[in-house]
Amino acid sequence: MKNYSHMAAVIGWPIEHSLSPDIHNHWFRMHGLDGMYDKRAVKPDALAAAVEGFKTEGLRGFNVTVPHKEAVMAHLDKIAPLARQMGAVNTVLIGEDGTTTGFNTDGIGLVKNLKETVPDWPTDRPALIIGAGGAARAAALGLLQENISVVMITNRTREKAQAVADEIGRGRMAVVDWEARDTAVTAAGLIVNTTVLGMKGQPALELDLGAAASDTVVYDIVYQPLMTPLLQSAKARGLRVVTGLGMLVHQAAAAFKIWFGEEVGYDKALRTMLEAKFT
Ligand code: ATR
Repeated sequence: MKNYSHMAAVIGWPIEHSLSPDIHNHWFRMHGLDGMYDKRAVKPDALAAAVEGFKTEGLRGFNVTVPHKEAVMAHLDKIAPLARQMGAVNTVLIGEDGTTTGFNTDGIGLVKNLKETVPDWPTDRPALIIGAGGAARAAALGLLQENISVVMITNRTREKAQAVADEIGRGRMAVVDWEARDTAVTAAGLIVNTTVLGMKGQPALELDLGAAASDTVVYDIVYQPLMTPLLQSAKARGLRVVTGLGMLVHQAAAAFKIWFGEEVGYDKALRTMLEAKFT
């Protein structure tokens, strides 16, 4: 077997549809690095063995996706503060001595994508997060690090939104009743859908954007399809939209930097390659 100088992988169950190998292998090629990133299907009961195996294989690290993001934490030596706050890890670094450290780059990726796509997004009004799962926590933590005063959160199951606000909000998050979400749109400068609604095979997110201010930005982390029904209705209203692919790319870029120290980004060739998969 060939010995690569840069090796990483993504683990999940299932894993066939992961785009991470396309993204990381693109960067290896672009930067002339002798690298290899592959995907490994790991069943939940095989997680501990997989982590040990990666150390002996000499991987620099690995990404973690559903259903292992929380469970992997028990098998790591150290957890970075942001990942600890989120209660989930999406990136693991394996040190020279085999020490494993867990990070979470989802929130950083979301904000980087937002700033790159809409640098002048309104920070003088609250953001509104729809949903209260892992992606909502990432969005909240990412946005709370920015210069915005309040992050509103609404979720079908209110208690879950309340738990996010209590656990990570530090007094800067407000829970909005699910039934009142259309009203919250009026005050929002940024609206982020973190639910699965709008994804291929799922119903659309019902959200009336009629009362949104004209400079409001609508961000959907769903990227299949790229233009979800929510983004289509935002565009029809003349609002600026951010699609979910960029978040995927930027969370990957942050992981690449952690493992290999290289700054990579959402270049034109990568955009063309990824967008072609969704048209
Ligand atoms: P992830 O960790 O990937 O964010 P998750 O934890 O499964 O995923 O969260 C999915 C989110 O989509 C939740 O906020 C969920 O709402 P509940 O907490 O009430 O379950 C939301 N969601 C899923 N289906 C929904 C639906 N039909 N209507 C409204 N919200 C829905």
